[in-house]
Amino acid sequence: MDLGIEGKTAIVTGSARGLGRAIARRLALEGAHVVISDIDEAKANETASELKAMGLSAHPVVTDVTRAADVQHLVDETIGIFGGVHILVNNAGIPRDRYLVEMTEDDWDVVMNVNLKGAFLMARAVMPRMIEQRWGRVIQISSRAHFGNPTQANYAAAKAGLIGMSKALAQEEGRYGVTVNCVAPGFMQTEMVEALPTYEAIRDKAVRLQPLKRVGQPDDVAHAVSFLASECASFISGEVLHVTGGRFG
Ligand SMILES: NC(=O)c1ccc[n+]([C@@H]2O[C@H](COP(=O)([O-])OP(=O)(O)OC[C@H]3O[C@@H](n4cnc5c(N)ncnc54)[C@H](O)[C@@H]3O)[C@@H](O)[C@H]2O)c1
Repeated sequence: MDLGIEGKTAIVTGSARGLGRAIARRLALEGAHVVISDIDEAKANETASELKAMGLSAHPVVTDVTRAADVQHLVDETIGIFGGVHILVNNAGIPRDRYLVEMTEDDWDVVMNVNLKGAFLMARAVMPRMIEQRWGRVIQISSRAHFGNPTQANYAAAKAGLIGMSKALAQEEGRYGVTVNCVAPGFMQTEMVEALPTYEAIRDKAVRLQPLKRVGQPDDVAHAVSFLASECASFISGEVLHVTGGRFG
């Protein structure tokens, strides 16, 4: 299937590692120019170098998505180098899991800022260009956690917030040829979840509760994102695509 994104430019936030790196690699393999934007400079450079060594088009830009000035610099540099911005994948995200009674204001704020405010700042910064181009794709990495998980009031609220934001933007920007969708992954094997003290228990529970009995891999998410970024998905907007091995709730 030709995805029709050859020569298009994609910004993937938080793409130095994990799901973001897999998404960036997949889009680059489809012929897109990809901007590896991440707060981790060394890893962003490493990932961009890996893609370039594969003969793909990639450029690293250090960005903290919670800072409007960083976000504007990222978009300006992207347009300066590649001449446009067609695809935005809001993937940067962090958990800060605690039971509510132990959750600090900082736990709440930092999760909201990275997962939700970052996506708002990014979408706002790219939208004028997408409107001008009359073509754009915004894909937000939500989570199955939008249904709710114990210890994740902050994370679940942010990931549910992304869905509401996407449905509003889908209504607002559709007339300009811009689609806005969410991908909601279930448990995926990445450094983020491997760092959790309860990693093995969460992984085993996830597989037990999924109809499809295997651990989700970053490429499972990357394939869903590349479809939503493609010409094949040009009539889909405001949607949430669950990549959860068939598990809901
Ligand atoms: N792994 C899972 O099981 C899973 C499931 C559902 C949703 N998600 C979501 O998918 C996304 C990627 O998760 P992952 O597992 O690959 O995580 P990860 O921790 O492996 O990667 C996240 C990347 O985001 C970067 N980042 C963090 N804060 C940032 C900031 N302020 N600005 C820019 N970059 C920043 C990190 O440096 C890192 O490279 C997140 O939004 C996460 O919430 C993950």
